[in-house]
Parts: sequence; structure tokens; C-alpha cells
Amino acid sequence: MSKSLKIELNLERFENPEELPQDAQDLLLAAVEAREAAYAPYSNFHVGAALLLANGKIIKGNNQENAAYPSGLCAERTAVYYAGANYPNEEIVMMAISAKAKAKETAVPIPPCGACRQALAEYEVKQARPIAVYFRGGSGPILKSSSVENLLPLLFTQKFL
Ligand code: THU
Repeated sequence: MSKSLKIELNLERFENPEELPQDAQDLLLAAVEAREAAYAPYSNFHVGAALLLANGKIIKGNNQENAAYPSGLCAERTAVYYAGANYPNEEIVMMAISAKAKAKETAVPIPPCGACRQALAEYEVKQARPIAVYFRGGSGPILKSSSVENLLPLLFTQKFL
């Protein structure tokens, strides 16, 4: 007889940025700044991501599109790979994401895509410390995941290799 396995995903919801702890509020502002500089002429969907490192430094990334569509990269991976390249020994404390379509209001929280969750998980496993992830649209509520693993159950890691 097979058994059913249930996996729970726990999120915290904040109605507006003022409810966030100060460091997360500041990081979300940095994500909005990053979003405003996104290069997304094809989708017109602008995404900004900001990482807080343990040394207090904030790293920003945004989506970078390309005429050869698959050559573009999401905001989250732009940010996390920059951090990995330039601060390889610095732990990532949290990430904030803000995403907005150019032509309309995006008032629902926009989560990181599956590929970005996998990319982020690599660093969470490496540092053995959870990375909190806050995500928002251009306005509206903010969702918080206390770790990347929580957002990506059954994640694939180096332990399988
Ligand atoms: N995008 C991100 O930057 N992050 C995500 O997690 C989802 C999608 C970007 C990729 C592309 O430039 C645009 O949003 C539309 O998919």
C-alpha cells in the first residue's frame, strides 16, 4: 500500500512595507530601485532583487533580457551570482524581490521562478544558514518565506551527487 506524503509550505504575510522589520524594509526599497533599472524591453516585466549580506552590504540585481530570449537572466540570479562572484565568503541573510509589469499594476506578491529557487538554494546549502525571502509585486501585500528550502520542497542538492 502506498502512503500519501504531505509537504507544508509556510509563509508570513505583511499588508504593507511598514509592517516589515527595518532591515527588510530597507532591502525591499533596494529591490524597487533595482527593478526600476531592469532591462526588460521584450517582456516589459520588470523585476528587482536585493540581497543583504552578513557584512551589511546590499547587492542589487534585475532582469537582463536579450534579443535571443533564452540568453536573458532573472533578477534573482543576476543578484545571487554577483554576490557569489564578488563576496564568495559572505553569508546571505535575506533577499527582497519586487516585480511589476510596465503596463499594469501588479498588486499580488510575485514569487521567484523555479530556476531561481534552485540557484538560491545552492547558496543556502553552502552557507548552512537559511536565507529569508520577501517578495512583492509593485504594490500590495508582501510574503515572507523564512528559507529558500521552504519555497522549494524536495530541492536537489550536492548531497545526492
Ligand atoms: N523574471 C525574473 O526576473 N524573475 C523571476 O523569478 C521570474 C521572471 C523575469 C524574466 C523575464 O525577463 C521576465 O521576468 C518575464 O518572464
